[in-house]
Amino acid sequence: MTVDTPDINRNRRAFLAGIPATAAAFALGAAPAAAQTTQTAATAAPGRRMLGNLEVSELGLGVQNMHRTFHTIVPDRDDMIALIRAAYEQGVTFFDCAEVYGPFECERILGEAMAPFRDDIQVTTKFGFGVDPETGVWDFTVTSRPERIRRAVEGSLQRLGTDRIDLLYQHRVDPDVPIEDVAGTVQDLMAEGKVLHWGLSEMGPRTLRRAHELLPVSAVQSEYSMMWRAREADILPLCAELGIGFVPFAPLGYGFLTGAIDMETSFAPSDFRANTSRMAPENRASNMALVELAREWAERKGAKPGQIALAWLLAQGDNIVPIPGTTQMPHLRTNIAAAEVTFTSDELAELTTALDAIEVQGGRAPALVAEWSDVEAPDV
Ligand SMILES: NC(=O)c1ccc[n+]([C@@H]2O[C@H](COP(=O)([O-])OP(=O)(O)OC[C@H]3O[C@@H](n4cnc5c(N)ncnc54)[C@H](OP(=O)(O)O)[C@@H]3O)[C@@H](O)[C@H]2O)c1
Repeated sequence: MTVDTPDINRNRRAFLAGIPATAAAFALGAAPAAAQTTQTAATAAPGRRMLGNLEVSELGLGVQNMHRTFHTIVPDRDDMIALIRAAYEQGVTFFDCAEVYGPFECERILGEAMAPFRDDIQVTTKFGFGVDPETGVWDFTVTSRPERIRRAVEGSLQRLGTDRIDLLYQHRVDPDVPIEDVAGTVQDLMAEGKVLHWGLSEMGPRTLRRAHELLPVSAVQSEYSMMWRAREADILPLCAELGIGFVPFAPLGYGFLTGAIDMETSFAPSDFRANTSRMAPENRASNMALVELAREWAERKGAKPGQIALAWLLAQGDNIVPIPGTTQMPHLRTNIAAAEVTFTSDELAELTTALDAIEVQGGRAPALVAEWSDVEAPDV
């Protein structure tokens, strides 16, 4: 296995410093990535959207829960394979995964499910958490050291049963690794044809801008929904400015916006929502105003509350591709049909104004998880 040495990284950083992105990309011999170096938006076919220069279905499918729903119940593996295949049959071609989901097991499930139609879909995965490559044990650290990125990608390719990853994300910024080293490693993987596009998740804005200068970024993945709108203030305008796609994770507010969670719901202690203060009963009561709003609009539009949540996200921009997660076939069908729910500009303004008036109570994540977000990579 080729492993980057510190010297190579130092040379690469010096080389990348100060030269424009396109020049850097070409100079680094990025044949498969060449199409990415200009971020001129191609037009997507009907029912599809562009993430940078990557065309995907307008709604994707998140497979994080397919090995263990929110770290609790283990769904039937064959059912999950059938669900992924049903999504494809209904037009979904964008599947969201990560090394750490399972760890490993969600990639294996997705790999098995997608084998018959691999060439017709866009598969994503992510590196960046300290998952032991041999044991699959995650030690609750982040790491983007170049040799760990390479190792993660080799493992992901094997588990997914493919020779390339359509979109590879850095899952979280490593506060100890300059983004130059990350971009350079991804660039090398692109030159080898193993990665076609790249993205970042939950990074700080300065890191995104720098990453994009070094190697054009196709997509950012961060939490965004009617329940969590912080990214409207920073990352969404930056993505619009730079021509980067935006993939909202937890677009259904981890299920809250569908109305499936009420005041009677109690979460298993291992379910991370049990440790999220916005879901705590004292805040949940007030946050139910969001569900009421989604229900009111569902009635107006002849839809379901979760469909309103997804349709509202789709209406925020052509570069937005939500990836709702589900382990249930009826929910999959409902979520896909959300793309048919549209708003006039007056309706959208009315709904957004009503949303503006609701102040979400509580934090969005347990403290440890929150620490990993909005991180800026160190300077070289
Ligand atoms: N980059 C990151 O750090 C990050 C973080 C979190 C998530 N993600 C990605 O984003 C994807 C989506 O996020 P998520 O799954 O955590 O949250 P989500 O999509 O907001 O919500 C999923 C929850 O909603 C429920 N649900 C889905 N459709 C429903 C429907 N039509 N009616 C009622 N309930 C419904 C699901 O339960 P059922 O299974 O019962 O349908 C599940 O409990 C993940 O799979 C993962 O790929 C990325």
